[in-house]
Amino acid sequence: MARSPRNRQFFPLLATLILVVTTCSDPVEAFHSGGVGDCIGCHSMHRPDPGQTGTGTDNSISLTGSDPGSTCLKCHLAVGEKRPTFHLVATADGDMPSGVPPAQLSPGGDFGWLKKSYRWGTWGGEDGGSSPGERHGHNIVALDYRFAADTGRTTAPGGTFPSNSLSCISCHDPHGKYRRLADGSIGKTGIPIQASGSYNTSPDPSGDRAVGVYRLLGGKGYASSLYDGAPFTADPPAAVSPENYNRPEDHGDTRVAYGKGMSEWCSNCHPAQLGGTGGGKTHPAGNDIKFSSAVAANYNAYVASGNLTGNPSTSYSSMVPFEMGTADYALLKGTAASTGSQRAGPGTSSNVMCLSCHRAHASGWDHAMRWNTKSEFLVFNGKYPGVEDIEVPSRISEGRARAETRKTHYDRPTTAYATYQRSLCNKCHAKD
Ligand code: HEC
Ligand code: HEC
Ligand code: HEC
Ligand code: HEC
Ligand code: HEC
Ligand code: HEC
Repeated sequence: MARSPRNRQFFPLLATLILVVTTCSDPVEAFHSGGVGDCIGCHSMHRPDPGQTGTGTDNSISLTGSDPGSTCLKCHLAVGEKRPTFHLVATADGDMPSGVPPAQLSPGGDFGWLKKSYRWGTWGGEDGGSSPGERHGHNIVALDYRFAADTGRTTAPGGTFPSNSLSCISCHDPHGKYRRLADGSIGKTGIPIQASGSYNTSPDPSGDRAVGVYRLLGGKGYASSLYDGAPFTADPPAAVSPENYNRPEDHGDTRVAYGKGMSEWCSNCHPAQLGGTGGGKTHPAGNDIKFSSAVAANYNAYVASGNLTGNPSTSYSSMVPFEMGTADYALLKGTAASTGSQRAGPGTSSNVMCLSCHRAHASGWDHAMRWNTKSEFLVFNGKYPGVEDIEVPSRISEGRARAETRKTHYDRPTTAYATYQRSLCNKCHAKD
């Protein structure tokens, strides 16, 4: 039987990886635990039968799905699940028929939005427009679940990463090799990973135990076999999520404490979006783009359109998050919360980052924006705009049902906003 070079590598690597797995003790419900999960969660241990090999498909390493993304979604999507549930990041097609939004409300956003296309008004007319599903975020390839590559763009805007190679493993390391050490540095080998480092409840790294990097993201030198043309140059960001992160925000925000380095990490694939030179930059972002005192003051005062009565101790909104400008994990862990208890706003050490405006996975709006930047009003006459309301102009509802619009606001009541609420750019710039 002819073995591909990859199959030959499999057994030595298997031995080392199993050693790593068995040296850490994990809570039962955990799978990755900040590092490499049980091999059989993703790989079938049966070697392919002779005759089935050599096709050059992704199955040469016997993943349990047809491709890496489908392998992830075996656990990260659950058919029939219509409520936000732990680590699910996508809603199945049958659970989100027309007018019904995707259900998952994690900080990254539900990939189901990629399958929601909208059209409104008179085609080609002033009140008409469209918002195709593939514009709503990162089009990961996962064929078993009908997720296909972006057809409209061939590469990452502001970079070279090819759209047809984009998968979960383009951003997350499936083997979770990157680890955070006690001195704050990030490495790929060395002392073992004891647990996830993503949470406010995660242990701190010590002299002989590391923790996983934020969300198993790839660090310096990372590239999957799908595309190795531009290995990452920036390590994962410093950030901490509350343990309960996938939930409606009608009774308080889910606050991920973003510390620093998110924009730099995104720029592994979108370098021109960060740099001051070259085309493509949409808005300044990054560790160096600190809030001026005017921006910080606006954020803290801004409650809603026309209401600037807020104060710094309660001004935080997860619709417009910012980085705290620190990698101090004690501070980050104390700030991450989903109880509504941590609502303090920014100061002049805070900075604007890509995720101040975008979601990492997908959203209900073009370019994975957190809110609709293409309509005048986010709330119209005290209600979320929806096509079922004939009093709402089509250029305001933009083809979405009210329930869909509300879901993009993570189920916040409209009382969080003004009767006629304008763009959340105003949270920092307070023009209206
Ligand atoms: C969370 C899912 C997941 C787990 C758990 C996992 N793998 Fe993988 N593995 C993958 C994916 C996806 C690829 C394809 C990576 C690529 O194409 O770059 C892969 C590729 C490989 C390869 C090919 C070489 C490489 O790194 O690209 C080997 C060998 C391998 N895995 C061994 C293991 C062993 C041994 C374990 C258990 C200790 C394990 N894997 C656990 C998902 C996983
Ligand atoms: C066998 C089921 C299973 C598979 C397959 C699986 N996951 Fe997970 N994943 C989980 C569970 C359970 C959790 C929550 C517990 C944990 O983190 O260990 C999780 C958590 C995560 C997290 C958050 C971890 C952290 O520490 O912050 C990421 C990111 C993630 N998965 C990505 C992936 C990717 C990418 C793949 C495919 C390469 C994948 N998962 C495949 C079950 C799975
Ligand atoms: C473009 C890069 C990218 C891709 C592609 C990607 N992720 Fe993520 N993922 C991230 C980032 C960044 C975060 C952290 C988001 C935050 O905290 O705001 C994240 C967060 C997560 C989490 C934690 C829950 C959440 O939404 O915050 C899970 C689980 C996860 N990803 C799994 C997956 C799976 C499974 C896939 C493929 C179906 C995938 N990711 C594709 C970048 C990516
Ligand atoms: C591994 C490479 C990679 C990383 C890392 C990455 N992206 Fe992307 N991104 C792409 C590719 C490829 C596309 C084009 C294909 C698509 O839109 O599906 C894209 C498209 C986008 C788009 C346009 C979406 C649309 O439909 O208009 C936005 C916005 C975006 N990325 C933001 C981010 C942010 C924010 C981060 C960091 C959290 C990030 N990206 C990290 C590869 C990446
Ligand atoms: C202050 C808000 C904001 C920040 C911060 C921001 N963006 Fe954007 N981004 C936007 C808006 C608004 C658009 C849509 C622009 C348009 O339609 O012309 C956009 C569009 C994009 C696109 C699609 C571009 C295209 O050609 O269609 C990408 C990719 C992108 N942003 C990536 C990033 C990355 C990466 C970062 C961080 C380095 C970032 N953005 C920071 C608001 C922001
Ligand atoms: C999280 C806070 C935040 C949000 C939200 C935000 N901005 Fe900004 N914006 C900043 C910061 C910080 C600067 C840097 C200059 C400064 O301090 O005024 C800036 C600068 C700008 C500039 C000057 C551009 C330049 O190159 O110097 C423009 C124009 C702008 N923002 C427009 C927007 C628009 C449009 C949106 C909504 C899509 C938006 N901003 C959302 C924080 C924000």
